Amino acid sequence: MKNPESETKIPLTRVMWQSIFRNPIPETDLERSSTSFTNFFLHLHPVKVHKNTLRPAYTLGLGLMSLFLFLILIVTGVLLMFYYVPSTTQAYDRMLDLRGTVAFGIFLRNMHRWSAHGMVAIVFLHLCRVFLTGAYKKPREFNWVIGVVLLLVTLFLSFTGYLLPWDQLAIWAITVGSNMAKATPLVGAGGPFAKVMMFPGTDVPMIHAGSDARFFLLAGTFVGENALLRFYVLHCVFSPVIGTVLIAIHFWRIRKDGGISGPL
Ligand code: HEM
Repeated sequence: MKNPESETKIPLTRVMWQSIFRNPIPETDLERSSTSFTNFFLHLHPVKVHKNTLRPAYTLGLGLMSLFLFLILIVTGVLLMFYYVPSTTQAYDRMLDLRGTVAFGIFLRNMHRWSAHGMVAIVFLHLCRVFLTGAYKKPREFNWVIGVVLLLVTLFLSFTGYLLPWDQLAIWAITVGSNMAKATPLVGAGGPFAKVMMFPGTDVPMIHAGSDARFFLLAGTFVGENALLRFYVLHCVFSPVIGTVLIAIHFWRIRKDGGISGPL
């Protein structure tokens, strides 16, 4: 004989579903959109999108590719941090160890390197796509500006990461690169404004070799121990945090600007 109580019992799967998603298992469009709104992960995607924005040929998926390369760089970068030591006596040897003795070390390092190169190329192509489709126009001007800063962050990540292997290529590339900072307008010791920035009536420059943009970048006047530590912090903490915050704002703006622009 059937137990009348068991008939009114809510199945365990439904109880579990509702405790996580707060909504019944969706059957109608309204229930599906309600589930999306109330779920942290699902609400990242819009409930409704224009048909055009789903056409892969419009965006070429370049923005999402940039995001995934950034995520790969974060994951592989954190794993590399377990082995790497930012000191002039150890950095190069640690890099060689990664290539020769650490299990999957060379795979990890190459994944990080190739994703970094890929990200520079893909972010640039994404910028070209946005430009060529006119997606930078009203109301997306601000997101274009955020995008330009994201491109600069991507380039800065590549630049600061370049020093970390501490081989000859790295040291001399950063020596050349940081020398360019000398010519930064206003804050570069060798720049066009340095002469203008003399204390009136004296030969004493307001900006001198010891306090210009290059000095700030290298934490000294040459590429040495201080520069390596500074580049390590800029590469592993400062730039990824700025990048993550800007990417979050970039995505939030896409939603607030009415989704991805569509072809006319
Ligand atoms: C880390 C770098 C970046 C990431 C992860 C990223 C990600 C994305 C994603 C996922 C989209 C959605 C559409 C698509 O896939 O094309 C998008 C749209 C957009 N991005 Fe980026 N982006 C980055 C850099 C840039 C740059 C460098 C620019 C321009 C200077 C830019 C400007 C825009 C604009 C204006 C849109 C809206 C496009 C539209 O509505 O058609 N982004 N971005």
